[in-house]
Amino acid sequence: MEDLKKKISKIRENFSNDLDKVSSEQELENVRIKYLARNAEISNLMHEIKNLSKEEKVIFGPLLNELKTNSEKLFELKRNQIVELKLKSAQEKKQNFDVTAYKFSALKPSLHPYTHVIEQIENIFISMGYKIADGPELEDDFYNFEALNIPKDHPARDIQDTFWLKLPHKLMRTHTSPVQIHSMKKQKPPLAIFATGRCYRNEATDASHDFVFMQAEGMLIGKNISMSNLFATIKVVLQMIFERENLDIAMRPSYYPFVEPGVDVAMRCPFCTSGCSVCKKSTWIEIMGAGLVHPNVLKHCDIDPEEYSGFAFGFGLTRLVMLKYGINDIRLLNSGKIEFLEQFK
Ligand code: DAH
Repeated sequence: MEDLKKKISKIRENFSNDLDKVSSEQELENVRIKYLARNAEISNLMHEIKNLSKEEKVIFGPLLNELKTNSEKLFELKRNQIVELKLKSAQEKKQNFDVTAYKFSALKPSLHPYTHVIEQIENIFISMGYKIADGPELEDDFYNFEALNIPKDHPARDIQDTFWLKLPHKLMRTHTSPVQIHSMKKQKPPLAIFATGRCYRNEATDASHDFVFMQAEGMLIGKNISMSNLFATIKVVLQMIFERENLDIAMRPSYYPFVEPGVDVAMRCPFCTSGCSVCKKSTWIEIMGAGLVHPNVLKHCDIDPEEYSGFAFGFGLTRLVMLKYGINDIRLLNSGKIEFLEQFK
């Protein structure tokens, strides 16, 4: 009898001590499991009632019941306190939110490789007296083909897989050469322009082809402009781009409808002396198309070919950027991948 009494008061005391120490929901749950759950201390004690005599039941029944209901009451009180505490601290956190305390993890800004190279090349042309020009990416057949001496039935139209729009004569420009036409229509010679911009070709993508890519275009129109002016200009420009004095360049006859004569310009591979993977073991790298502006092109722009002549050249800016930085997959350039872009500080 005395034993049971002691047990009851011991449990009451322990329960109250343990409950006092509780300061979190988890601790509260631990107390519940220890005292109030099934097979916990208080519940087990309740089971002992059935082993008592009638007289004992009269005494201990109410004592045990009181222990149980009282403990449950205290437990509920504590639970309310804990919930209130949690709410209060969440509110305080909200009220005390300090916007200035938040610091971005430092993402270091970097320029796209295109931006680096365009800036460098534009500066070279500006230093030579050229004006930066541009034209629309959504073009008219006239500017992209017709005025460049590529009439409707010309096979050169097939080489440039064109994205035609549903609007009549409208297309996404396949090269930057239409900027020549826009410039000559806007301004009478003498005229020296340089342009860069996106071009589109309807072709499958792989590591070296994308349906959107960048080209650059230059043109100079004046009196008595010859192939030697073209050669000298290209040589100086390539020397400056690749930052080399001794840079061999070579011109071979080639065909572009908008120039006559037309040439392909190659330069000695800047990465090797005896052949490497970039120049495909040839030590030469094809770098641009160029030539003297075709009289028909001048006529389309109301410029008299008897009075004026000029040269034009165009090159793959995307290809140049890939060469310069050793980028082996064209798709990286438009991928928007931070890890890729971060490399170009
Ligand atoms: N537009 C030509 C192309 O996309 C490149 C080109 C060749 C441009 C010769 C020129 C040029 O201005 O004279 O392949």
